[in-house]
Amino acid sequence: MADSRMNDPGLGTPTAPIPNLGASKASIQAHYDREPLFYERFLGPSLAYSAAIWNEPANRDTLEAAQLRKLDWHIDMSGADSGRRVLEVGLGWGSLIKRLMVRRPGLEYVGLTPADNQVQYVRSFAPENFVTEISAWQDYQTNRPFDAIVSIGAMEHFAGKTMDRNGRIEAYRLFFEFCARMLRVGGRASIQVNGWANIAPGSEARHIAESGIDRFWNEGNLPHASEMLLASEPWFNLIHLEGKQRDYIYTLRAWIRNLRRHETDLVALVGSEMFNDYLHNLTVCLEAYVAGALTLYRLVIERKGPVAGLGSVPKG
Ligand SMILES: C[S@@+](CC[C@H](N)C(=O)[O-])C[C@H]1O[C@@H](n2cnc3c(N)ncnc32)[C@H](O)[C@@H]1O
Repeated sequence: MADSRMNDPGLGTPTAPIPNLGASKASIQAHYDREPLFYERFLGPSLAYSAAIWNEPANRDTLEAAQLRKLDWHIDMSGADSGRRVLEVGLGWGSLIKRLMVRRPGLEYVGLTPADNQVQYVRSFAPENFVTEISAWQDYQTNRPFDAIVSIGAMEHFAGKTMDRNGRIEAYRLFFEFCARMLRVGGRASIQVNGWANIAPGSEARHIAESGIDRFWNEGNLPHASEMLLASEPWFNLIHLEGKQRDYIYTLRAWIRNLRRHETDLVALVGSEMFNDYLHNLTVCLEAYVAGALTLYRLVIERKGPVAGLGSVPKG
């Protein structure tokens, strides 16, 4: 009989600490440890700092409705709609927690972020069964497996700025190995990340994107779809992969509109330098998307193992 652990390296407790090959804790904190009110004004009440799922025509949709649709999509695709234990990597300002508090109030949830004030903010409204930890995934350990993992808009930070394709694959491999260690067999991870579209190296669109990435995800890097597939295949089967450029274009447009609408308040709150910095960074990122260099990936993968509950192969 085949051993289900064959071609399944990395199970069990890691024997050595997992290195951080991506953005430093200091750069994550510098980016996210800011006044929540600033984010609330431009991200909207959901405080979701990631692309939404828009219905066409987008001008008849709203950012809030589209963010809710996105959260529900990840809840359903990961199995968090029915699983008992759910892990979120990169909890942000708690947008997923708020939705899960409505849909799955009794859930055992654990959420991770290295940014202290995101955790302080989320603890002010999350009940006790929603556990939030100031921790990078690289430092998190548990011996109780999860049924589902959701990670939205965090993987941009998991590979270092100067890494080439092989370096990124190695960085993502460490992340997927971590996910495999956390999940029961058959458990799913639903991941959303900004990534490279398939464009030629050296093209004008690529230059625009490179300067955008530098400003927007400083110290970070973005994946190609093939890199995520290669890095995850030792432990996972593919359930779903999509590239939805328009979802981030519409989201960025809504954020830029919000920034402009609240300019006076926001400048009073954080100063004109930070305000202009955000406006510029979002605009460059939008240009890179419109030029076709970047796209928004949603990846759903399932922890490999024997398929339970379907009985044996019929004989005769
Ligand atoms: C762009 S925000 C997205 C937050 C949230 N998922 C959302 O959609 O609004 C990225 C999040 O990833 C977190 N993050 C970055 N690197 C991380 C790491 N190594 N481990 C865990 N979280 C990380 C950041 O602190 C932040 O909370």
